Amino acid sequence: MAVITLNPKRSKGTIHKHIYGHFSEHLGRCIYQGIYVGENSPIPNIRGIRTDVVEAMKKIGVPVLRWPGGCFADEYHWKDGIGPKENRKRMVNTNWGGVVEDNSFGTHEFLDLCGQVGCDPYINANVGSGTVQEMAEWVEYANSDGDSSVVQERWKNGRKEAWGVRFWGVGNESWGCGGNMRPEYYADVYRRYQTYCRTYGENRPFRIACGASEFDYRWTEVLMREAGRYMDGLSLHYYTLCGDSWQEKGSSTEFTVPDYYKTLKKASRMEELISGHDAIMTRYDPEKRVGLIVDEWGTWYDVEPGTNPGFLYQQNTMRDALVAAITLNIFNHHCDRVIMANIAQTVNVLQSIILTEGEKMILTPTYHVFDLFQPHQDAKEVDCFVQAEQTGLEGWLLEQVSASASEKEGIYTVTVANLDAEQPEALRITGLQAKQAQALVLTGEIHEKNDFECSPLAVQPLAAKVEENGDVALTLPPCAVARVTLS
Ligand code: AHR
Repeated sequence: MAVITLNPKRSKGTIHKHIYGHFSEHLGRCIYQGIYVGENSPIPNIRGIRTDVVEAMKKIGVPVLRWPGGCFADEYHWKDGIGPKENRKRMVNTNWGGVVEDNSFGTHEFLDLCGQVGCDPYINANVGSGTVQEMAEWVEYANSDGDSSVVQERWKNGRKEAWGVRFWGVGNESWGCGGNMRPEYYADVYRRYQTYCRTYGENRPFRIACGASEFDYRWTEVLMREAGRYMDGLSLHYYTLCGDSWQEKGSSTEFTVPDYYKTLKKASRMEELISGHDAIMTRYDPEKRVGLIVDEWGTWYDVEPGTNPGFLYQQNTMRDALVAAITLNIFNHHCDRVIMANIAQTVNVLQSIILTEGEKMILTPTYHVFDLFQPHQDAKEVDCFVQAEQTGLEGWLLEQVSASASEKEGIYTVTVANLDAEQPEALRITGLQAKQAQALVLTGEIHEKNDFECSPLAVQPLAAKVEENGDVALTLPPCAVARVTLS
């Protein structure tokens, strides 16, 4: 039996809704086909943007969307993607599959997508191969209402009012695909670029500096020391591989029970990573003014057999649902420092919430985890202590139960996962005198997935039985994620 003790008197503050954010890059079939099909497509769309995908994103309350990359961001020149489509410049997407990018999805289309979904845009600007002027004018184009030539161009392109884009990334992976810079050099480059990220009217940009890859604590140290006072956010990227190298990352669907535990154990290292980077940030920023923005996270496997290796298309199983639950619970626990996160990537790329094939669309197990966790958005974090056994295998042992809790308007939400691949787990939730309790559970054998062929709806949350007698008791099946609502 595992015991989850809630202490409503202790809280780290608000769980910012942007922790439940997403990321969509010009990569493979994420933007084109996945999100944007063009106005003349037989697939239902509004101004070229797929209606089914927008509706699915709205349903889980996607709060923020990062775009246009990723590595693509540092080769993207935003002026190529505005104005009449027939005049837009064509380029080769050298990072991802060498395909032609016709720039038919640009700034107006992205901000239209965000408007349709009802989420905040997060634009990642080009530092690696772009100029300060180019970035400054992008901010001006999006946010200014002044009568400048840059703004007049926006008017000419059909948009009178400024959009007021708040979140701006200054370079992506500047230590790698974004320019192979050293932290000392990038810190100065960052200071220079952010200077020209101007405030227009009420629209003060929230400036996000490129942060570390995984355990590169030196990067965080140097950035905080040299540029901490010029930033609002610092990013962090961490991907979960099942295999031991980038050459052999493992299959998304064909894996063993040891592979399952290995993947979950690696995902759970997010705890150590956030604690480590937070400790460094806290030395320079004890008030926690600078947010940690985990703007790329998720599983990364070998591509599905027969698909373009540059498109990063992978299936999604219950194993991925568990990775998502573990990670989101960790973010909730660190809500005093982590104020935004963006899973990679929304549609058809890496750990997607949505997969498409032509006009068909399916929702992955990961999608349902975001749905279950939705009430945490902008709720008050509630201290949640878990006493549980360990599970897993020699070398890959981990806590069998992962949980976090929040409260909004007197309603408590506990999200909890049973990581064991084969054993159910009895749970007792204590610390509250709940009069009512309900549970929704997402479960399946570890390989269970939704697919286009025979089972598009195999994995879905279902209501489960909960017992109340002061405490709340329920039994979670193996490999399960649940939301328990208490009031
Ligand atoms: O998400 C795929 C890629 O992973 C991104 O383009 C890059 O930032 C990271 O290396």
